[in-house]
Amino acid sequence: MLLDKLVQLLQDSTYTIVFTGAGMSTESGLPDFRSKDRGLWKKFNPNELANVHALIHNTEEFTNFYRYRLSEITKYKPHEGHLVLADWEKLGKIKGIITQNVDAFHHDAGNSNVMELHGSFRKFHCHSCKKEYERTDYLDGKTACECGGTIRPGIVLFGENLPQDTFEKAEREATQADLFIVLGSSLSVSPANMFPLVAKENGAKLIIINREPTDYDMYADLVIQDKSIKEVLVEADQQLNYG
Ligand code: APR
Repeated sequence: MLLDKLVQLLQDSTYTIVFTGAGMSTESGLPDFRSKDRGLWKKFNPNELANVHALIHNTEEFTNFYRYRLSEITKYKPHEGHLVLADWEKLGKIKGIITQNVDAFHHDAGNSNVMELHGSFRKFHCHSCKKEYERTDYLDGKTACECGGTIRPGIVLFGENLPQDTFEKAEREATQADLFIVLGSSLSVSPANMFPLVAKENGAKLIIINREPTDYDMYADLVIQDKSIKEVLVEADQQLNYG
């Protein structure tokens, strides 16, 4: 039973790192990006929206798109699977979460060691003068800074560098891990998708829990595709705690 093997690997591990993608938040109600039927990039073109060129030359569409994404994120909340990960960190069963997600749901669920590789919608700032703004300002329609610049979310847009200190911390954690669990990512975006192999090359066991196959499944010690992430986490938690 795949779930038994997951629980066994968790129990045998002394330094588990979890790595999450958008599939972690679909059961909260948020769409992911590349799922065949409903990924966000099936409805919107990231090349026309999710980059600095769009922010400068396509400002109205850029702003409408990110106000829409922020309104979606504020409509939903972490699900039971997020709460299980928060419990596991408190109990020392996992040491941290490297996430590509910008919804800050791991932070809201109560995890403390969360490495947000792509930033998050928690903070907003002017793209020109860097003045910080509240996300309520952005939701209320304030999208232009006093300096004339465009207010934007504190997320990493395509073509921008990842936050260096977060990236380096994630590299250290992936190197130290003896168990690395991927939850809900197609592992198709670099450099975030390097971390599963960083862990594997440093001796970690690799688990991939994802509804669709990924290019990294061949390196995994365990792949679970037939259950949703929330189901796996809740059932594993029950087995871990109640034998
Ligand atoms: N349970 C298991 N797997 C799921 C679930 C679920 N409930 N929901 C979705 N998935 C899987 C999908 O099958 C898909 O393979 O999660 C994966 C999500 O992959 P993507 O949509 O590509 O999301 P992600 O890997 O996080 O994208 C990486 O791309 O657009 C950029 O910056 C954005 O951080 C994002 C990055």
